[in-house]
Amino acid sequence: MSEIQRQLILDQCRQFHAAKPAAAFVPGETYIPVTGKVLDADDLVHLVDASLDMWLTMGRFGDRFESRLAEVFGTRHARLTVSGSAANLLAFASLTSPLIGDKFDKPRVRPGDEVLTVAAGFPTTVAPIVQHGCVPVFVDVDPETHNVNVARLAEAVTPRTRAVMIAHSLGNPFDLDAVTALCRERGLWLIEDCCDAFGATYKGKGIGTFGDAATLSFYPAHHITMGEGGAVMTDHGGLKRIIESLRDWGRDCWCPPGKDNTCNRRFDWQLGDLPLGYDHKYIYSHLGYNLKVSDMQAAVGLSQLEKLPGFIAKRRENFRLLTEAFRAGGLEEHFILPKATPGADPSWFGYLLTIRDGSPLKRREVVKHLEDRKIGTRLLFAGNLARQPAFKGVDFRVHGELTHTDKIMNDAFWIGVWPGIDQARRDYMIAVLLDLVRRA
Ligand SMILES: Cc1ncc(COP(=O)(O)O)c(C=O)c1O
Repeated sequence: MSEIQRQLILDQCRQFHAAKPAAAFVPGETYIPVTGKVLDADDLVHLVDASLDMWLTMGRFGDRFESRLAEVFGTRHARLTVSGSAANLLAFASLTSPLIGDKFDKPRVRPGDEVLTVAAGFPTTVAPIVQHGCVPVFVDVDPETHNVNVARLAEAVTPRTRAVMIAHSLGNPFDLDAVTALCRERGLWLIEDCCDAFGATYKGKGIGTFGDAATLSFYPAHHITMGEGGAVMTDHGGLKRIIESLRDWGRDCWCPPGKDNTCNRRFDWQLGDLPLGYDHKYIYSHLGYNLKVSDMQAAVGLSQLEKLPGFIAKRRENFRLLTEAFRAGGLEEHFILPKATPGADPSWFGYLLTIRDGSPLKRREVVKHLEDRKIGTRLLFAGNLARQPAFKGVDFRVHGELTHTDKIMNDAFWIGVWPGIDQARRDYMIAVLLDLVRRA
C-alpha cells in the first residue's frame, strides 16, 4: 500500500471521529462513571496506522512507547506488558530470579520470606507475593491519606522481611522519605505500584523513581489507556533484563521480534546442561510467561501519553474544586475528606469519602442514594484483603490492628475526578452530596 493511500485512510479516520456527536449531559439521567477513557482523533489514527502495518506483535509503536514512557516516567527502562496486574507479577517475580546475584545490592527473595504491604487496596498488588510462596505482612493505613502508616511499617520488619510492595493509594503518594529510608536501613527491595498514580510527585520527584521497580496500568480506568496494558519501570539494567525474560517466555535471548544474533554469540553459548552452541533463541533462564502486547495497543498508549499532563491537570482541578465545595458546604461534619501526603502532589485517581464515626449516614444507603441519582461510586477495591474469601487458607501475617483498614472497608467509597467530569457534572455531584448531608 502506498503512503498516499495510508494518509487518505488516516484522514478519513480524523473525519469519522470529528463527526461523532458529543453526548449531552442531563443531570440525574446521564450516568457519571467514576472513571473512563478520554480518546481523541489522534488515538484512532495511531490505532489504524498500526493496523495498516499488519505487524500485529510489538513493533515500531511499541518500541517508541517504551522509550517515551521511560523518559516521561523518569526511569532508564520501561517494559510494556498486558496489564497492571501482569506488571506487578513481573516486578515481584524478578526479585525471585536465580539471576539475582553479585550485581545486585540485595539478596534474592525466596519462598517463606516476608513482604510488607497493606490490605486496603487492589488484590493484584499482593497476589504475586503469595503466588511466589512469600508471606504478605499487612500493616494498617492512615485514615486521611489512605496510605500505609509508616510507624507501623517500621515495627513490622523481622529478620525474614525482604521487600516492601505497596500502591500509591488512589493517586496519593505514600511517605516515600520514610519508606525509602526504612528500605535502605534494612536492605529491603521496594516495588512501587503506581497503577493509580501516574504523574504524582513526592518532593518534586516522580513517584516510581524511588524504589527498585515500579508498575503502571493502562486499563481504561487509569490516567492513560491502551485498552488492556501495563508497564514495569526500573533503573536497574539487570532487573530490566530479568523482567524482559520473564515477560518473553523466560528466554535468555534478548533479541527483539524479527531480529537474530544481536549478542553476536547466538551459537556460542553454553548454559545449563545444554550442549555448547545450542541456539540462544531457545535457551531459557526462567520459568516465564508470555505477557507481551500488540503494536495496535502500544500505538494507542503512545498517543495517549502525550496527553497525560492535560489529563493530570484536569484530575487535580476536579479534586481541588470538589474539596473546596465540600468544605464550604459542611460535608466534613459527616465525612473524612482525603488529604495529600505531606510533600506530595498527587495525581488523583478518585475522591475517597469516609463516613465519620457518629454520623447517622450509612455507607450502603449513601452509595445507593448516589447511584440512584446516576453518580457512579466505587469502594476502595478489596477494602481489607485479609477478609476476602481469596485469602482464606493463605499464609499471611497482620502486624498490629487493621483498624483504619476496616474503617475504610466499612465506611468509605469514592467518586470520580477523571477528565470526563466537566463543570456541569461536577456541580451536579456537589449539589447531590451537599443536599444529602443537609438532610442527614
Ligand atoms: C493499585 C492497582 N494495582 C494494580 C491494578 C491492576 O491493573 P490492571 O487492571 O491493568 O490489571 C489496579 C487496577 O485498577 C490497581 O488499582
